[in-house]
Amino acid sequence: MQRLIVANWKMNFSLPEATALAQAIARVAEELPATIVIAPSFPWIIPIKESLRWQPKNLALASQSVSPWREGAYTGGVSAKQLQHLVDYSLVGHSERRVHCHETHGIVADQLMRLHEVGIRPILCFGETRKSEQSALLEQLMHALSQDLKGMPDALIDQVILAYEPLWAIGTGKSAQPDYIARVVAHTKAWSKATMGKEPPVLYGGSVDEDNARELGQVKNLDGLLVGGASLNIKRFQVVCRQFLTHV
Ligand code: PGA
Repeated sequence: MQRLIVANWKMNFSLPEATALAQAIARVAEELPATIVIAPSFPWIIPIKESLRWQPKNLALASQSVSPWREGAYTGGVSAKQLQHLVDYSLVGHSERRVHCHETHGIVADQLMRLHEVGIRPILCFGETRKSEQSALLEQLMHALSQDLKGMPDALIDQVILAYEPLWAIGTGKSAQPDYIARVVAHTKAWSKATMGKEPPVLYGGSVDEDNARELGQVKNLDGLLVGGASLNIKRFQVVCRQFLTHV
């Protein structure tokens, strides 16, 4: 898999701002040896897709979430089926959804299944609340992941992308250190191989910026980034992408 850099725009931008930034990112993506994924708010997915009719190279769209239900009386919900053919990826279980929208492991598991049913590739977020150097941390992380992934079919496990996002690093300006990330990535891949027979790609997210992207690019076996704040500005995002991919 090409490395993946995901721009998680969260709940930002008017329509003109979103389409302008998507165009700018698409132009940057064409030059990069990576897949760049833009995750806009739901209502901007179609206009962005329409504004990119020239089908730029290396660019894909993601939703930031999805309903755990298939269809029906769920006011405000957006189903996986409605997103089919609009996005290639969807974030699942972002900590902001787990905290503010009370998305439990059971809900996350249902979301994964709904995406799988329509062929949208899930980017499943996981991460600890508090920083810890103890090995118990890794056990806690794997326990949480195993609850999200319990009973998932092999074909889904083949498609899932994991995004390690320690909560203490998100939006704080305090990214995790490269060796800390390398340890989690190595452990996550080894655990996945041992328990599910597969080694999914693992991304890192949490205060990724122009100053740390280069060293993150050297973290062993790290397959990409999930970028929040620094993806809201083309100059910053372009530098992040270029720095991260310096050694590719
Ligand atoms: P941040 O957000 O880069 O602003 O820390 C990352 C995320 O929440 O995906």
